[in-house]
Amino acid sequence: MATLNYSSTFLFLLLSTVLHVLLLGCSGKVEAYRFEEMTANLQRRSHVVSLSSLIPTGVCSTPAQGAKTSSGLLQVAHKNGPCSPLKEGNAKLHDFRQLLIDDQARVKSIHSKISNKDPLEDSAVKVPATSGQSLGTGNFVVTIGLGTPKKPCTLVFDTGSDLTWIQCQPCVGQCYSQQDPIFNPSASSTYSNISCNSASCNQLQSATGNSRPCGSTCIYQVQYGDGSYSVGYFAADTLTLSSSDVFPKFKFGCGENNQGLFGTADGLLGLGRDPVSTVSQTSQKYGKLFSYCLPSSTSSTGFLAFGSQVGTSSKAQYTPLLTDSNNPSFYFLTITGISVGGKSLSISQSVFTTSETIIDSGTVITRLPPAAYSALRTAFRQAMSKYPTASAYSLLDTCYNLNGYSTVSIPTIVLHFSGGANLNVDQSGILVQASSTQYCLAFAGNSAATDVAILGNMQQQTHEVVYNVAGGKLGFGAGACS
Ligand SMILES: *[C@@H]1O[C@H](CO)[C@@H](O)[C@H](O)[C@H]1NC(C)=O
Repeated sequence: MATLNYSSTFLFLLLSTVLHVLLLGCSGKVEAYRFEEMTANLQRRSHVVSLSSLIPTGVCSTPAQGAKTSSGLLQVAHKNGPCSPLKEGNAKLHDFRQLLIDDQARVKSIHSKISNKDPLEDSAVKVPATSGQSLGTGNFVVTIGLGTPKKPCTLVFDTGSDLTWIQCQPCVGQCYSQQDPIFNPSASSTYSNISCNSASCNQLQSATGNSRPCGSTCIYQVQYGDGSYSVGYFAADTLTLSSSDVFPKFKFGCGENNQGLFGTADGLLGLGRDPVSTVSQTSQKYGKLFSYCLPSSTSSTGFLAFGSQVGTSSKAQYTPLLTDSNNPSFYFLTITGISVGGKSLSISQSVFTTSETIIDSGTVITRLPPAAYSALRTAFRQAMSKYPTASAYSLLDTCYNLNGYSTVSIPTIVLHFSGGANLNVDQSGILVQASSTQYCLAFAGNSAATDVAILGNMQQQTHEVVYNVAGGKLGFGAGACS
């Protein structure tokens, strides 16, 4: 079935190319060339990777350009790299092992949330059953403005959760240390509390699954799978994304008690699809259309774009964006097959229908159904058989000792989605340097066939990922950032 799908996709591409050549007179050479290049890329069997390119340089190759003036376009940087506006953690968070432990905690909490299993029964994650917000924290940050006069806030952005929150004064519980001064609501002339008896407060409570006692002011509480949390007042203030994109009465959490793995970021930007998310709250202007490009290393930058900025840097291939009424915040997709080294793997279609699949900006390593991962690993190991193997590293079980090599030839990996969209994974999302001697395949398998599969951020790198929420489709546009 998977083979069939792939060959029909190929046939479609071939026919389109022929059509394009026939139409060359009117369509122009540049576009035809682009299309042929895309087709050729799909058939490519290997990447020749310079190993030094997998090691971040410690210097930002695309430094922050100050305040972006372009409407709806924000610069994205890895939380802990030299391009991050946060200057803390270069040394502290280069612990890849810890990153994978946090990643596993996030995945476990997503799995227990989507399977509707009581997470308290799962000894590995302690998420209160009342909390609907169960996930870990993302790795990429953007800077937005909040309040009047506006204060810059650097936030981790996350398509796997909805509520945007920042740390707020006074920290009645505890606040973790952040780089910017902690937001002071009384210094903003446009700040207001949201009343407990309001529709927004009810909506928030159903979104977060909390039922807090109702005082005068609405209280929110979000808890993440890794033990991180934020508690405070549900509030409204002016959100500024660029000089022309200003959103009065934007609803967010003003957190007076916060703890967790947010680095020195000021909080979190929720890009899920619930009414409380940033996507929904800015829908009048942007029509529930946004995209991002995640850079391939901590030493380069990408972007987060809203509305008309979307799709200006790449031509995307689309797959239907699906919803699951039991898990309305998440973005669901359908994987139909996988190709390694230009050859479609024989994986029964039922493997991809036994579990659902989501795309998530906060999960690092893609998690595949066990049978799909096993087929991918076998093909990858075959293609890499000339290189010496190394021991497994955390959840990555296919590693190589590449000491002494300056370049390696690794097979291409293409993920195929319903509707014919292909994600030709960038080399940075295929082989990752885990330690000085271990370079590992950057994919992992789920333990149960029914666990939701997750398209993680490492495999999304360098593609513009277009979320056309209103149009019900999701696109991948290659080569949008480096
Ligand atoms: C918001 O509510 C808190 C708690 O009731 C209160 O301390 C604060 O003054 C309120 N802020 C405004 C602007 O009403």
